[in-house]
Amino acid sequence: MDLKLKLRPSFFVFSFLVFTFLLNFVSASNPKCISTEREALLSFKQSLTDLSGRLSSWSGPDCCSWTGVLCDARTSQVVKIDLRNPNQIVNSDEYKKGCLRGKIHPSLTRLKFLSYLDLSSNDFNGLEIPEFIGHIVSLKYLNLSSSSFSGEIPAVLGNLTKLESLDLYAESFSDSGTFALRSSNLAWLSGLSSSLTHINMGYVNLSGVGEAWLESFSRVSKLKELHLFNCQIKNLPLSLSSSANLKLLEVLDLSENSLNSPIPNWLFGLTSLRKLFLRWDFLQGSIPSGFKNLKLLETLDLSNNLGLQGEIPSVLGDLPQLKYLDLSANELNGQINGFLDAFSRNKGNSLVFLDLSSNKLAGTLPESLGALRKLQILDLSSNSFTGSVPSSIGNMASLKKLDLSYNAMNGAIGEGLGKFEELVDLNLMANTWEGVLQKSHFLNLRSLKTFRLTTEPNRALVLNLPSSWIPPFRLDSIQIENCKIGPEFPMWLQVQTKLNSVTLRNTGIEDAIPESWFARISSDVTYLVLANNRIKGKLPQNLSFPKLNTIDLSSNSFQGSFPLWSTNATELRLYENNFSGPLPRNIDVLMPRMEKLYLFSNSFTGAIPSSLCEISGLQILSLRKNRFSGSFPNCWHRSFMSWGIDVSENNLSGQIPESLGALRSLSVLLLNQNALEGKIPDTLQNCSGLTNIDLGGNKLTGKLPPWLRNLFSLYMLRLQGNSFTGPIPDDLCSVENLHILDLSGNKFSGPIPKCISNLTAIARSKSFEVFQNLVFIVTRAREYQDLVYSINLSGNNMNGEIPGGILGLTNLRILNLSRNSIAGRIPEKISELGRLETLDLSRNKISGAIPQSLAAISSLQRLNLSYNKLEGSIPKLLKFQDQSIYIGNALLCGKPLPKKCPKDINSRL
Ligand SMILES: *[C@@H]1O[C@H](CO)[C@@H](O)[C@H](O)[C@H]1NC(C)=O
Ligand SMILES: *[C@@H]1O[C@H](CO)[C@@H](O)[C@H](O)[C@H]1NC(C)=O
Ligand SMILES: *[C@@H]1O[C@H](CO)[C@@H](O)[C@H](O)[C@H]1NC(C)=O
Ligand SMILES: *[C@@H]1O[C@H](CO)[C@@H](O)[C@H](O)[C@H]1NC(C)=O
Ligand SMILES: *[C@@H]1O[C@H](CO)[C@@H](O)[C@H](O)[C@H]1NC(C)=O
Ligand SMILES: *[C@@H]1O[C@H](CO)[C@@H](O)[C@H](O)[C@H]1NC(C)=O
Ligand SMILES: *[C@@H]1O[C@H](CO)[C@@H](O)[C@H](O)[C@H]1NC(C)=O
Ligand SMILES: *[C@@H]1O[C@H](CO)[C@@H](O)[C@H](O)[C@H]1NC(C)=O
Repeated sequence: MDLKLKLRPSFFVFSFLVFTFLLNFVSASNPKCISTEREALLSFKQSLTDLSGRLSSWSGPDCCSWTGVLCDARTSQVVKIDLRNPNQIVNSDEYKKGCLRGKIHPSLTRLKFLSYLDLSSNDFNGLEIPEFIGHIVSLKYLNLSSSSFSGEIPAVLGNLTKLESLDLYAESFSDSGTFALRSSNLAWLSGLSSSLTHINMGYVNLSGVGEAWLESFSRVSKLKELHLFNCQIKNLPLSLSSSANLKLLEVLDLSENSLNSPIPNWLFGLTSLRKLFLRWDFLQGSIPSGFKNLKLLETLDLSNNLGLQGEIPSVLGDLPQLKYLDLSANELNGQINGFLDAFSRNKGNSLVFLDLSSNKLAGTLPESLGALRKLQILDLSSNSFTGSVPSSIGNMASLKKLDLSYNAMNGAIGEGLGKFEELVDLNLMANTWEGVLQKSHFLNLRSLKTFRLTTEPNRALVLNLPSSWIPPFRLDSIQIENCKIGPEFPMWLQVQTKLNSVTLRNTGIEDAIPESWFARISSDVTYLVLANNRIKGKLPQNLSFPKLNTIDLSSNSFQGSFPLWSTNATELRLYENNFSGPLPRNIDVLMPRMEKLYLFSNSFTGAIPSSLCEISGLQILSLRKNRFSGSFPNCWHRSFMSWGIDVSENNLSGQIPESLGALRSLSVLLLNQNALEGKIPDTLQNCSGLTNIDLGGNKLTGKLPPWLRNLFSLYMLRLQGNSFTGPIPDDLCSVENLHILDLSGNKFSGPIPKCISNLTAIARSKSFEVFQNLVFIVTRAREYQDLVYSINLSGNNMNGEIPGGILGLTNLRILNLSRNSIAGRIPEKISELGRLETLDLSRNKISGAIPQSLAAISSLQRLNLSYNKLEGSIPKLLKFQDQSIYIGNALLCGKPLPKKCPKDINSRL
């Protein structure tokens, strides 16, 4: 201890002496700039545009001290110019400002000893690479990458016979467009063959070179790195005559070319390869076992070829240096046992990164997985793996990311998980897990930030953690679905207050969530989903959620009033709870960005606030099944995006607002089961994209408007249970896409229009899928599904006969004409409605016999012919044995009616 203290001062003195000595030495030998070279540099500077002023030091007498300039210490000759953009975050303001622009002055050729020139990451705005650069024959290093040069690469670069490193990477970040370099003949490369070790021509268009590209590069015999990323190469030669020449190649990147070929065998002659990138190349066929020759391989990226097939060859597991292996997004199949077993035999394996995601791999995960002791990233997602997590997985002590999502893994999740002290991201989503996870599964996960665990709803997966347990992790993101956590909202969740994404769906939580938890997460959370639990209690009022995007608290038992949350969220789902009280009058101020507002099946009361009309992005307003009263506000003028309104099953009175006509993109309008009165406003004809209208169960009056014929997309029209009058106009027949028509329980009169056969959607299968729109209104599609292909005119004053044209509606499933005054006969060929499930003609004045063909409709499940004037015998083949469907027809006879038929009855009819 003493000794150290004594040593220190003398050490400082010593270093000071060395420092001053060096200082003297440097200033003594400080190179004096050569004036002709200074002139050359000044000319070069003058033709450049330098917005950020980073060449401001280029003025004094000593050009060797200028920024980016280096002179030879002995001779003072300029040997290096490094004007790379000091900011490397492309497209940042600093980067753009730091770009040198303008022209490159030929004075550079006067620097006879320049060996290093870096003009990369600037913006020469489509300038061609000047020929004179090929005259600076002293160059060893030339970097022109990402500087927005364009045109043909000059062949004179082949005269730079000392060049060791050439970077012409051509991805362009110019403000004034994208520029591209090309080379249509690579013969110039041969001039560099004795010196060049490193070449990057990424983004250079080489499509004009054809197959010759490979031969040209292979002649550069000292090459160690060859980067041809995204060069529009479309030909991959399957043989290479002089592969001997690329014997020194260590890095090869051919990614993002459209090679469309198998992996060629010449690759396996490149035995110095350490890194091989062949991603997004449309490679086909299997992965050859020739990879076993590449003993030095550290990185192999064959990802995103979409077409590589077959099993993963076990030889990959034998490569002793392999650290990074990405085979994701291919069509690889079979099991991975052989390949992993090879790794486990290969004790010194050093694999750090393994991505096999998005393939067709199957089978169980073998115990040998645990042999990958240095692995940090393991992604096996989106395959067809089954079984449980092997216990050996706990041996991968360095694991940072584990992704097993989107497989078919069932059974238990082993406790091996609990050992991962370094694990940050754990994704176990979308499998069919079962069993119980306990404290031991999570004991050491102190680095965990992201945790996803979901199974199918019918599985018994339980997270059984002690209610007061404080976990070692603080998560950013949690997603748990169909896994039992409740009934309490446990302490281990309560302490997670830095969450930015929360999904706890169907987790059996029943208790109230502490108000303070909402308050604590409010500042960071972007996604808050607590749906399908049985959570009780009230929500805290008056919170601000600056980052929130989606809130889904649906299908719980929340009570109390609408949360006065100030948020720019675009989606709010509070449906199927027990919220009560009025909506805030300033909802437009609280939630100005709302697009989808789902509040159905609650107990909200009071008026629907007119401030909703001020939310200009509102697309869906779903307020069904509440107790809203008063009139539906007539203030719509801004919500151009609006396409779904469902305020059915409330207690709304007054008229249908005329201003709805301003919602030009409205598709779904459901106002049924209220107390609305008056006529259908003519302004609705402006909403020509309407697909689904339900105005049933109100007190509406007037006639059917003729403009209905202009609603070409109309799929469903339900006006049942109102007081509409007048005839059914022929205009309705023009609505070709109609699949559901319900006009029952009104005061319509006159005959059924003859043109009814023009309802071509019902006449033949022609699905427009517009019904899908109801899916977005949530749960409504299910409700209306049973009505597809139905016509219901029951309970009106219709007269006349059943038009023959109705037989053309061959898709019809439900036909209800009951309780009218329809006369005439049942059409003889009724069996042409071969898909009919329900036929109700009861309580009319229909006469004649029941056609025999009725018995031929095998789909028929419900029939009612009661209270008409039918006569004759009931067809023997009709399967319905319930008397009540035939009664009230005095002249009808035969089973199941008690009245027997006279023998010759049918011949009399
Ligand atoms: C060329 O410059 C860019 C930065 O602008 C750099 O990323 C790249 O590594 C350099 N190329 C070589 C071969 O040094
Ligand atoms: C390369 O240099 C030689 C002589 O130095 C010259 O003759 C030839 O034209 C140059 N090549 C190109 C392509 O400019
Ligand atoms: C690449 O060059 C070829 C001709 O050499 C040309 O036909 C093609 O359009 C170029 N590709 C792009 C994206 O400019
Ligand atoms: C919320 O804010 C409103 C108005 O700013 C205020 O009247 C109300 O008392 C607050 N409610 C709570 C629970 O803080
Ligand atoms: C919503 O966005 C506006 C403007 O982008 C911002 O001023 C406001 O503070 C945001 N509201 C919340 C609650 O974060
Ligand atoms: C809904 O809340 C009211 C009080 O606002 C309560 O009387 C009622 O029982 C609750 N209903 C259910 C189903 O929880
Ligand atoms: C419906 O609203 C009317 C007033 O518009 C009111 O008298 C009636 O009680 C309400 N009915 C229900 C069930 O809330
Ligand atoms: C019914 O369709 C026929 C043939 O397409 C057409 O001529 C007729 O005008 C249509 N009737 C009505 C009322 O739209």
